[in-house]
Amino acid sequence: MTIRLEVPHDAAAVDDILDRSFAPGRERKTAYRLRDGVPPIPSLSFVNVLPGGGVAATLRFWPIAIGWDRVPAILLGPLAVDPALQGLGFGKALMRHGLAAAAEEGHRIVVLVGDPGYYEPFGFTRAMAENLALPGPVEAHRFLARELVAGSLQGVHGMIQRVEPEPAFVPPCRLSGAGLAFAEP
Ligand SMILES: CC(C)(COP(=O)(O)OP(=O)(O)OC[C@H]1O[C@@H](n2cnc3c(N)ncnc32)[C@H](O)[C@@H]1OP(=O)(O)O)[C@@H](O)C(=O)NCCC(=O)NCCS
Repeated sequence: MTIRLEVPHDAAAVDDILDRSFAPGRERKTAYRLRDGVPPIPSLSFVNVLPGGGVAATLRFWPIAIGWDRVPAILLGPLAVDPALQGLGFGKALMRHGLAAAAEEGHRIVVLVGDPGYYEPFGFTRAMAENLALPGPVEAHRFLARELVAGSLQGVHGMIQRVEPEPAFVPPCRLSGAGLAFAEP
């Protein structure tokens, strides 16, 4: 199996896998309050592709911030494998790849909402998320966290917040006698 970065062309296939892997209404889950209108981190958005080029699985991470100090962290997920291909190792391979890439990029804290039985072998625990809160209802036992750098969650507590995307660049302009004009460099 091959894992590569997601490209814009994959969007429809990824959406299709998400629609078929999760129950309808996934966008109403609390985790989506942190994702809505925020693009996933492009360098941490991966797909698992089949030899023919088809997308078999998807994993994305989102930027988040924790507490008053806005400690930077990342939200893992959604992770989803094409239902026809589940149980073949695609999910685990994406998890290993994604976490290694996140660590390499210098991220220190990862949180997620998911089945503990699946994520605990990757180092996620409920205890690590004990002092964190999500901006909406969630089953507490499914709210997990992991340090990518030991000690990164020490003293970190509070509400997990969205990280809004940078506003699009708008060229500076000035008023002139003739109306608006672009500023000279
Ligand atoms: C959960 C999911 C990502 C796992 O990926 P996968 O490629 O099917 O699974 P893998 O082949 O990597 O791993 C299979 C192992 O995980 C276990 N597993 C699969 N789903 C699990 C779950 N929800 N809870 C606990 N263990 C699970 C299997 O029992 C199997 O265990 P084994 O290795 O001891 O036999 C995939 O089944 C999926 O997309 N499910 C629907 C969407 C979802 O629930 N996403 C995760 C929540 S964000």
